[in-house]
Amino acid sequence: MSSSPPPSSPARSSRLTGFFKLTPANRRAALLAALGHNGHHDFRAIDPGALPIDLADGMIENVIGTYALPFAVAVNFRIDGVDLFVPMAVEEPSIVAAASNAARMARPSPDDASTAGQGGFTTHVSAPVMIGQIQITHVADVVAGAAALREASPALLAEARALLPRLMERGGGPVAVDVRTLATQGPDGGVIVVHLHVDCRDAMGANLINTLCEALADRVATLARGRAGLRILSNLTDGRTVTVRCHIPDAHLASPDAPGPAVRAAIAAASRFAELDPYRAATHNKGIMNGVDAVLVATGQDWRAVEAGAHAFAAMTGAYRPLAIWRETEGGLDGVLEMPLAVGTVGGALHTHPGARLALELAGVTSADRLAAIAATAGIATNLAALRALATEGIQRGHMALHARGLARAAGATGELVELVAAELAASGDVKADRAREVYARLCQEMTR
Ligand code: MEV
Repeated sequence: MSSSPPPSSPARSSRLTGFFKLTPANRRAALLAALGHNGHHDFRAIDPGALPIDLADGMIENVIGTYALPFAVAVNFRIDGVDLFVPMAVEEPSIVAAASNAARMARPSPDDASTAGQGGFTTHVSAPVMIGQIQITHVADVVAGAAALREASPALLAEARALLPRLMERGGGPVAVDVRTLATQGPDGGVIVVHLHVDCRDAMGANLINTLCEALADRVATLARGRAGLRILSNLTDGRTVTVRCHIPDAHLASPDAPGPAVRAAIAAASRFAELDPYRAATHNKGIMNGVDAVLVATGQDWRAVEAGAHAFAAMTGAYRPLAIWRETEGGLDGVLEMPLAVGTVGGALHTHPGARLALELAGVTSADRLAAIAATAGIATNLAALRALATEGIQRGHMALHARGLARAAGATGELVELVAAELAASGDVKADRAREVYARLCQEMTR
């Protein structure tokens, strides 16, 4: 199943040149203009202090305040033929810029006949099937216990379906029961685990799966002649995955210092490094999660669940593997990412968090599969940008340019002065706070002369 894009594009075009140079207020205006008739958004949801303390107090325990993060949109994204802005909340500099740059590389260029009409990212999202686990311990005869459970599977499935009438009405519900024997003897005796596979539709599903597992555990334990143990969803959601693909032409990969074919070869070599070495694969995957998590945080998702699932999935073959790989093709580079991604557009923090709801609106997201597609695409984008930077100039130059802008602002610069101060700092190689104050003071004097 492909992700279901909204009926009309949420953005006329997501290609906004110079967006990063604007002030936050002007960025909001540019965003509304680009969203066209869809652009009636209430940005108060992401103003400082937008989460009222009473709401926060109802979300978790022992609340003494709220904690803010920068909220941004990455530009230039085209996913499954639809232009959109990707909401991101994250503390690390460069991630939003990296995602936007990679999305630009993946876009078709209007003047390039070889990419015209194609380009962007394409996704495939599986059905949203989550797994609930019921552990049974102290099974005296695991062969007989497993056989009894397999025989009772159709009845268990029917019972499970009867427990979730509203989900069934929405086209989801329990779809299969699996029986796995984990141990024949040991400290817990014979151990069997029953997997309930449940199509959760637009819910992430943790609550409904846990409730279901608790409701069925005693019956399952009786059937297996054992004791009910844990009853909880699995975060290894290998039945709920996203695959993202893109093709980047050489011309889009080229940097000022390196021609496209050389960059393409270096990125493919970086991919092979991650495929050979778990130490590198962990960092490669961290670069992917930079994009994924930023979207998940902005949209109020359980990013810890997705992190746990992603790394378990990466290790499923017995070796820890990269979630995205890159291959050279004729005149370009092909990337493919596959990962589990359990997200929801109903329930969870979306009930309460105004910023999370606005994030979904800005991206035009109305379904969980579309949100999963967008988060995974942000992941392959930040991976591509990181590999391109690492394979060419290294990541520090870009980091320094951003750091220089931050220092310029901290020194008091606003508007065009930010770029002037930052450019001078970056050119001098002396990217420090006191130097930023000196340059800013001198430029102010020069302007008032
Ligand atoms: C830093 O946040 C992420 C990178 O380390 C990812 C990578 O090495 O691929 C740059």
